[in-house]
Amino acid sequence: MLTDDILRLKEEQNAVILVHNYQTGPIQDIADLLGDSLELSRAAARTNAEVVLFCGVDFMAETAAILSPKKRVIMPEAGASCPMAQMITAQNLIEFKKKRPLAAVVCYVNSTAEVKAESDICCTSANGVEVVNSLAEDEVIFVPDRNLAHYVSRHTENKIIPWDGYCYVHDRYTREDVRKARTPHPKAELLVHPECRPEVVDEADYVYSTSGILRHVQESDAGEFIIGTEVGMNYRLKKEAPKKEFYPLSKGAVCLDMKKTTLTKVQKALETLEPRVVVPKDVADRARSAIERMLAV
Ligand code: 13P
Ligand code: SF4
Repeated sequence: MLTDDILRLKEEQNAVILVHNYQTGPIQDIADLLGDSLELSRAAARTNAEVVLFCGVDFMAETAAILSPKKRVIMPEAGASCPMAQMITAQNLIEFKKKRPLAAVVCYVNSTAEVKAESDICCTSANGVEVVNSLAEDEVIFVPDRNLAHYVSRHTENKIIPWDGYCYVHDRYTREDVRKARTPHPKAELLVHPECRPEVVDEADYVYSTSGILRHVQESDAGEFIIGTEVGMNYRLKKEAPKKEFYPLSKGAVCLDMKKTTLTKVQKALETLEPRVVVPKDVADRARSAIERMLAV
């Protein structure tokens, strides 16, 4: 069977399989570590494996390659990219910084290595508020997600200057989606990701990263939840809390790039150790300090 073959190849190649919560069920089932962006960054920094196979999108694999330059980081589908990360270039950020020379630059990990290299510190959806609150500067340029920037701005005294990027999966939820989802399930708790628009965040009972959503579900006394994040999350929630009920805030919340990874591509990647993700050393060295500064917060 394909899965047995993958597990055999993984042992032979001394590989570890890191998987994001938005991957499909069969990919989640072969994970050594399944998690949110912060958990995966931490795992990439401390693994002893020689090969890191990353099932997610390119900025995640790049982060692993930056943190573990001696390891071979491979991605089963090299074309899996995050459209939000493409909404700002390093040159855009350099120009933006010139207009705000006193501001610190916080960069959401959903960004290219080149943009990280121009930033002071990274953050994820799980630690954005702590990262901003750790800064001495009053003004903070926050790239690329305007919605996460807005969410963070509500929980800090710092002045946040957002870049106008967004995640097309989360930005499309509306108040009307909330009304439609709540009407048939009045007792369900609404949990949303901070990449959602402010008007959707306002309607939510709780706002968390993907792993924060999982933790909340495990600790809550509630039995029903409306989930305002990418639909792949519901597979994990149902597996880990089978007695609880989960309803997507919208069935259309699908990240197409996250779904490009398949078991067949994983098997091929483990056989060939390709496609390899390589970040040029000068970019990696500068991006590493922004990521490590985040991990230290
Ligand atoms: P987290 O899993 O860190 O919440 O990130 C969500 C996301 O959009 C990743 O692409
Ligand atoms: Fe990017 Fe949104 Fe897909 Fe995450 S869900 S990879 S932020 S497009």
